[in-house]
Order: sequence, then structure tokens, then C-alpha cells
Amino acid sequence: MIKKFQLKYYVFLILLIFCFKIFFISQLLAAERKQEHLEVKTNLSVKKTAKDFKFPIKVSNKNILFGEKLYQDEVKPIACSKCHGKNGNGFGIMAWALNPLPRNFTQKKYMNKISNLQMFDAIKNGSGGTACLPNKGLKPREIWRIIMYIRTLGSK
Ligand code: HEC
Repeated sequence: MIKKFQLKYYVFLILLIFCFKIFFISQLLAAERKQEHLEVKTNLSVKKTAKDFKFPIKVSNKNILFGEKLYQDEVKPIACSKCHGKNGNGFGIMAWALNPLPRNFTQKKYMNKISNLQMFDAIKNGSGGTACLPNKGLKPREIWRIIMYIRTLGSK
């Protein structure tokens, strides 16, 4: 009797996971199609120079650490990591519900094409038409620190 119940439970669970997988894959495909809007928004074809990756404040371990704290849990109401993931791969716990998916900060090919100023703008004013909302409460210094931290993701 107990065994039968357990079996049913497992079948149900596997089916549930399967449904989630299908849903997630469809989200991924949709996100890929949305890449088009990015091309326009971010002007990816313009070649970036060293200037585009400079910071107006000192790049130091201390600043990166401050940025990490903000990114991982201090930014209110929703910390960046909830969507962009603890390791920056774009799969935070809230990510599955979003379309397009949050930016994957570990994807060097793309990250090398977006300038610090563009990231600053996305963080301060939100990323137009996506779930990335404006953060008007963050001080410029804090935003630069977060970007410094984001630049370290994927290079460890
Ligand atoms: C509610 C989920 C969510 C939260 C919270 C969130 N983001 Fe995003 N973020 C997104 C989504 C979705 C995109 C859009 C990706 C796209 O355009 O394909 C995005 C895009 C970005 C981009 C890329 C902009 C570009 O031009 O490609 C940056 C940089 C960014 N987010 C930084 C942050 C930072 C820093 C935080 C924390 C202060 C944060 N985000 C919080 C969901 C989120």
C-alpha cells in the first residue's frame, strides 16, 4: 500500500519536473529570439576600446567587495543575484519566470561588447522593456562598484 503511494508520488514528481524543463527550454528559445532587440538597443557592432571599460573611481579589491555585497543581497527591493544568479550566469531563483532572461554576465563574448557606461545606464534607469527595473536609490559610486564586481564574474 505504502509502496504504491510512493510510486505514484514519484511519477507525479518526475512529470512535474519534466513540465518545468519544457517551460524553461521554451523560455530560453524565446530569449534567443529576443536577441534582436538587444542588437539595436546596445549597438553591439560598434567596436569597443579600452576607454569603454574604464572606471571613474579606483578599481580595488575593497570596491569589488562592496560591489559583491550590493549585488548579492544589499540592493533593495530585489537583489541583482535573485535574477542574474549568484555566479552571474543569469539563472537566479526568479529568472525562470522572465522573458527575456536576465543577462548572463559570464558570457564574455557579449560582455566584451557592452561598455561600463551602458551598464551604468541599465542599472540606474533600468533596461528598457525588460524586468531589469531602475535603481534610483543607488549612489553613482555604488553602481560603479557593482559593475566592477560584475566584470570579475566568469573570469575566475
Ligand atoms: C527582476 C529581475 C532582475 C533584477 C532584480 C535585476 N535584473 Fe538586470 N536584467 C534583468 C533582465 C530580464 C535583463 C534584460 C536582459 C536582456 O535585455 O536580454 C537585465 C539586464 C541587465 C543588464 C544588461 C543591460 C544590457 O544592455 O545588456 C545589466 C548590466 C543588469 N541587468 C544589471 C543588473 C544589476 C546590477 C542589478 C541589481 C542592482 C540587476 N540587474 C537587477 C533582470 C533583472
